[in-house]
This record gives sequence, structure tokens and C-alpha cells, in this order.
Amino acid sequence: MTAFTYRDGVLCADSVSLADIAAKVGTPFYVYSETRLRENFREFHSHLADLNPLICFAVKANPNVAVIKILADCGAGADITSAGELERAVKAGIPPQKIIFSGVGKTRDEIAIALKLGIFQLNAESIPEMRIISEVAASLNLRAPLTLRVNPNVAAHTHFKLATGEMGTKFGIDSAQLDEAMELTRTLPALDLKGFQVHVGTHLFDYGDFREAYTKLADMVRFWRGKGFALTRLDLGGGVGIPYDGRTQAPFSEYAQIVHETVGKLGCELAFEPGRRLVGDAGALVSRVVYDKRGVSKRFLILDAGMNDLIRPAMYEARHSIVPVREGPVTGYHNSEPEPADVVGPVCETSDLFGENYLLPGVGQGDLVAILQGGAYGAAMSSNYNGRALVPEVLTSGDKFRTIRRRITVTEQIGWEE
Ligand code: LLP
Repeated sequence: MTAFTYRDGVLCADSVSLADIAAKVGTPFYVYSETRLRENFREFHSHLADLNPLICFAVKANPNVAVIKILADCGAGADITSAGELERAVKAGIPPQKIIFSGVGKTRDEIAIALKLGIFQLNAESIPEMRIISEVAASLNLRAPLTLRVNPNVAAHTHFKLATGEMGTKFGIDSAQLDEAMELTRTLPALDLKGFQVHVGTHLFDYGDFREAYTKLADMVRFWRGKGFALTRLDLGGGVGIPYDGRTQAPFSEYAQIVHETVGKLGCELAFEPGRRLVGDAGALVSRVVYDKRGVSKRFLILDAGMNDLIRPAMYEARHSIVPVREGPVTGYHNSEPEPADVVGPVCETSDLFGENYLLPGVGQGDLVAILQGGAYGAAMSSNYNGRALVPEVLTSGDKFRTIRRRITVTEQIGWEE
């Protein structure tokens, strides 16, 4: 099942009409399907179940506490990148023993909070960070459960802003510096080295990138075990892509097979940090066409949602599927022959563009559209740029829906400044 299907000509999330939600909460809004969130988790888990994986949801993809709660209920842990995300994960009921702390710039305070809570592991990304983690842990009379994020020098096939696995990016410890890092795990007093982590990029469509990275990782495990290090844990990061704008993708089982073939027999505990794969296609941004503007050379459908609500198209040239909420041609003055249009937002930036030459039959001024694949890095990356409210988020379950974040109005935002 997909999260969004037409019923009686109206696009629904689960079995709730998006037009009904729009009438109740106004536009724009994000909507997530609980059913789809659960299905996505189940799929991820089922293909890896024999490896007894710890699946830590990358909270950065969708930090709404209600969303994290659903995944927690499915059995997910959390991959967090800040004390703020830690607070959200804990609030959503994720046990500290299932929380992984990622990120290149953890502060002393953040490290202390995580250690006191007793989280599962910290992923160290540099030698200076290892020293600080040890210092903070020692000051608390604790040992820090640690994995080293290694940079395996793999050039992932993704947008250049989404690649993290090559030398020269800020992420991970270069393999050439691993000798020094491994030695430090023996000499620094409060580090408890468990294993390695890799994450070579996000939105990876070509699973060959994973094969390359995980093969290198397995070689490293064998090499360092040979030198007497008891490595018991591997964290395979996130990064599995989803099809945007009608692309087709190899089934998830192929990713799982790569995991089995490359690291499945090392006898390590395995952790994963998926974000997009769990939440991306479970969500959409629903918006109304404010104007159908026909210029001399171009037609524009100008939405009430903008790049501040969904920045992915502007930032990564991402092209999400955009579909009408009411299926097929509707009657009315705005009903036009299918003529391609650029779908844009109201923000004063040329990059406020959701797609060029999209065909949206029957959609004109006043109509609703849904921008699909909006569950990951949508609301999470939204801002109030151009004096705009932060849009509501709605969760559907079966034939019910509820608001899981209300609209944060500009009046309220002005209140923050006083
Ligand atoms: N683990 C680490 C260490 C990460 O840096 C990330 C994503 C993930 C896991 C989760 O990756 P996923 O499974 O979602 O691919 N804003 C961008 C995505 C940035 C992702 C950053 N790190 C976008 O909208 O495409």
C-alpha cells in the first residue's frame, strides 16, 4: 500500500480525505500516515530480522514527537545529532539504551548529558572529539561506549550536498588516521571502544555504494581484530533512498542482501540509522494554488506553500511528485486543458520552485495539491523566512486524524522577540 490513494476521486492519507483536513486546519500543512510509518519500519526490520538489528530512527528526518513515538512503539531506537534531538527521543519514550549520538560537533555539555543518561553509543568523528569524550566521561566516573565513524573514501552516487563518505568531507575519521585513533582508544582512560560506524551519504539509489562501503568496513574489522582489538559492534548508518517523482528503485531486499553478504558473518551486533526510508513516503505537504498565472512564455501555479516549508527543491534540486487532491479534471472557470506549469511558492526567491513543466490536469486557482515524499526533511528543515507561520503537522490513523503540531503563527513568533 502507498500512503496516499484516491478514494471517490479525492486523495486520502490512510482513509482520511486531504480536502477534509484542509477544511479543518487550513493550508499549507504536512500530513503523515501512521499506517505507512509502521509498514516502513516493518519492511526495514523484516529483511534484517535474522541479524537482530538495532534500528535507530534518524530523528533529524522528522523530529515530531508523535512520529518518533510511533516508530518507538514499532521497536525503533533513535539516532540523534544534538541534545535537542535527544530530548525529543526521550520524550517519545525511546529508552537511552537504544540511542546513538552522531554528529561532528558534539559539545562537552551534550556529551555529558548523553553519558549521564546512559545512551547506547557515541559515534566519534575526529581525534579531538575522542579526547573530549574521554575527558567528560572520566570527569563523570564513566566509560563512554564508543564507535569510531570511519571515512571509507567512497564517492556515493547522490547529490553532491548529500555525499559524506569521501576524503575531504568533514565527516568521519580518515582511514589514514585510524592508526592514531585506534591507539588512542587504548591510551585514553574512559573510552570503551565497541566498533565502527559508516555513513557515506543520504538518498542513495545505487546500492553499490553500500556494498563498497560495507566491504571496506568488513576489511577494517578483520584487520583490527588481527591487531587484538575486540570489535563487537558495527553501525551501518542510514542513507537508503526512496523514489521521488516517479523513479523506480531496486527493492529493499537487495540492500538487506548486501548487508548479509558484506558484514553478516562477522559476529558483530548491527545497528542502522535510517531516516528517509522510514518516513519519507509516509508524508506530504498539502497546499492550495493561490494564483494560476499565465505569463507570455510560461504558466505558473503559485502555491501557498513555499521553500520555507519545504526547502529540498531549492537546496538539492529535488523534484517531489506533485498531484491534485481532487483527481482528474474538475469543472469550473479555472478548468484548463492540461498545460504544463512551473509550480512555485510565494517566497521572494527564484529558487522557490517545486518543479518545472509539471502537468496537473484540472488544477487551477483555488485547488489543492499534495507534494509527495514530504515526510523526511520537510517540516524538519522548515523556517519562518519571509514572515511566514510554521505549518501544522497532522497524523492520520485509519479514518481519523489529529494535529500533532499546530500552526505557529507570526504573532506568536513576534512574542519570542520581546
Ligand atoms: N546517520 C547519519 C550519521 C546521518 O548523517 C544521516 C543523515 C542519517 C543517518 C540518516 O540518513 P537517511 O537514512 O535519512 O538518508 N536534508 C537532506 C538529508 C540530509 C541527511 C543528513 N544525514 C535531504 O533533505 O535530502
